Amino acid sequence: MEEKKVILVTGGASGIGFGTIEYLLEQGKYEVISFSRGEKNINLAKEKLKEKADSVLFLQGDISNEDDCKKVFEEIDNKYGKLDGLVNSAGIIKLGGLEEQTLEQWNNSINVNLTGIFLLSKILLPLLKKGTNASILNISSIHSEKPGGSIAYCTSKAGLDMLTKFMAQDLTKYKIRVNSINPAFVESNIYLNSGDYTESEYKELIKKRNSTYPLGRIGNVYDDIAPLVEFLLSDKSLWTTGSIYVVDGGKSLF
Ligand SMILES: NC(=O)c1ccc[n+]([C@@H]2O[C@H](COP(=O)([O-])OP(=O)(O)OC[C@H]3O[C@@H](n4cnc5c(N)ncnc54)[C@H](OP(=O)(O)O)[C@@H]3O)[C@@H](O)[C@H]2O)c1
Repeated sequence: MEEKKVILVTGGASGIGFGTIEYLLEQGKYEVISFSRGEKNINLAKEKLKEKADSVLFLQGDISNEDDCKKVFEEIDNKYGKLDGLVNSAGIIKLGGLEEQTLEQWNNSINVNLTGIFLLSKILLPLLKKGTNASILNISSIHSEKPGGSIAYCTSKAGLDMLTKFMAQDLTKYKIRVNSINPAFVESNIYLNSGDYTESEYKELIKKRNSTYPLGRIGNVYDDIAPLVEFLLSDKSLWTTGSIYVVDGGKSLF
């Protein structure tokens, strides 16, 4: 039987990260590790996964904190001694433009959405070099190109796209692939976590957004994002690196 690939998903307790973990577990070909911030979502994720939760290694910490990232390295090194895939899904948003966004909010977004991905990828690189056909997959956004919503978020995602391309070029020497998925609106907890919307406001927002998509609805992690994540982690995409996949229900065509 084929050896299972070892995959770390950041932000694996919520939204796109969680849906990805559910999907990867369903395939039966992956050892899955999650790395996210708070205990609340980790407990919720375990509840939702039921008995499958026992097969996931849940790690807690901050991707923009060097010590936390080093602890993740040690945990994975001790348990697996290698890493075959890194999905950088952890990310935050706080709505606001130049007038509304505070320096603290700006710094938080850049630190998590950009610096955190640089830092964790850098620290885990020795383990990826020991992996088989290793792959890094960054979750960026259609807002890396199209401004709207949050000045820091859009800027961080624009930077992330260059980080993807730079790392892709840089890591060809190790045959490690680096790609990006840039979704439009996908149902998750990002606006609830940011405090920008209450639960009822978010439900209303989803209803309104559905009708604005050419393909008739907003995105769903499990069906629309996770299969592409898996493809880019798998040996089916061995000739694909430095690619930015826009997945947006046709939004950017109009
Ligand atoms: N949802 C969308 O419409 C959409 C569209 C385009 C791109 N994206 C991108 O998709 C990614 C995932 O977002 P999501 O919508 O799934 O949001 P989400 O539901 O809020 O999940 C984000 C996850 O990241 C974790 N996280 C945040 N900051 C962290 C940090 N410093 N260190 C470690 N973990 C951290 C959160 O931890 P806690 O569990 O403690 O909160 C949470 O588990 C983000 O990069 C986002 O920009 C989302």
